[in-house]
Amino acid sequence: MAAVGSAVGLGNIWRFPYICGKYGGGAFLLVFLLFVFFIGMMLMMCEFVIGRRSRHATVQAYSTLAPHKRGWRMVGVLGIVTCFFILAQYWVISGWTLSYFFDAITGRLAQMGQDTEAIKDYFSTFSTSAARPVVCLAIFAVLTAVVILAGVQRGIEKVSKLLMPLLVVLLLVMCVRSLTLPGATKGLEYLFYPDFSKLTAEGVLAALGQALFSLSVGMGAMIVYGSYIPADSNLFRSSMWITASDTFIAILSGVAIFPAVFSCGLEPTGGAGLSFCVLPNVFNSMGTLAGIFFASIFFLLLAIAALTSAISILETLSAFLIDSGRLKRSSATVLVVCAEVMLAAVVSLGGGMWSHIHIAGQNFFNFTDRLNSIYLPPLCALGTVLFLGWVVPSNDVYDELSNHGTVKATFYPLFRFIIRYVAPLALIIIFVSTFFS
Ligand code: PHE
Repeated sequence: MAAVGSAVGLGNIWRFPYICGKYGGGAFLLVFLLFVFFIGMMLMMCEFVIGRRSRHATVQAYSTLAPHKRGWRMVGVLGIVTCFFILAQYWVISGWTLSYFFDAITGRLAQMGQDTEAIKDYFSTFSTSAARPVVCLAIFAVLTAVVILAGVQRGIEKVSKLLMPLLVVLLLVMCVRSLTLPGATKGLEYLFYPDFSKLTAEGVLAALGQALFSLSVGMGAMIVYGSYIPADSNLFRSSMWITASDTFIAILSGVAIFPAVFSCGLEPTGGAGLSFCVLPNVFNSMGTLAGIFFASIFFLLLAIAALTSAISILETLSAFLIDSGRLKRSSATVLVVCAEVMLAAVVSLGGGMWSHIHIAGQNFFNFTDRLNSIYLPPLCALGTVLFLGWVVPSNDVYDELSNHGTVKATFYPLFRFIIRYVAPLALIIIFVSTFFS
């Protein structure tokens, strides 16, 4: 359940619709699904095996499993760097969610009615302003740290066991509302009809990045969770459930968002603000009171979903410092949070006040987004599959996946074939082709 909490978050409700819209809809969805099950889920099993077998956090896990090949720990280091950049951006968007929750509950969103332009303007004014997004991300950061420091993660996870199904119910309500708006079918067509002419090499890489981001794999977070998994849990079955529920929620939010995008006359290629520009329209079309009610609960649940994901990223970073033996939990967490809030503020301002400052042709917000999806996780993923496929002895991997021979692992030959050949080749081909396009 904790891993589901890590997987389900802004990646499903904010990032999936925005990336899917940006790279062409249906064809992207198809490629995304292929990556989710053939690479993402396999990678999740790899990370669980590495974590549970070594009982260590990200970097140390690699050195424990391959004590004579210490170079492989660089894959873990790459994961830590990835987590560092991901959390900064994650807190920015979590801050937006928090801010929208305040706006929903105080009726500010409802005031705008179904004026699509006003809602859009509100989002761009808000997201490019200096103070409010930074304050909100800082509040969210403190919230994440408090949960970890107070040791109430397990409490949060228990609560989210109840709340996440509620989020699904709410998404279903929003799907119904969105689908009954005028012109909604166009959105469904966009999401489910694959038009391959819209798919680019970069879109394929983005689909891979989104699959990894959404499943929280390719940065070592699942290694840390793997190290906490009880010896008798079935890793294949757990990975299957996590992958299926995460994907189901992503598609559900696509169904809630795309019909409304077309009905409101917005562009599916609207970028990072897509969900925030579309959803208020959906709520406001429910009537004032119902709108305020549903919008408030929705943004609150989304913030909690974001919190359970942020916890897992912060946990990966502090577990690395704690496991290296130099710091206590409290100092490790405080250190990471301070550094991270500074980076997050830069990311936030990079989309607004500092948008004229470019790195590799992108402002800092977009640059971090690309780093977090297109470059770092696929690279770390490549290292992880190569490590488990070629470095760790096959018997050890089989032993871990079959719980020392006590559960059947009939999928093992296929899994091994994928992590040794299919996944590495696919990852290399995608990288090289994007580079040349
Ligand atoms: N999977 C999370 C989401 O979809 C984000 C995440 C990425 C969490 C990496 C942990 C590690 O929102």
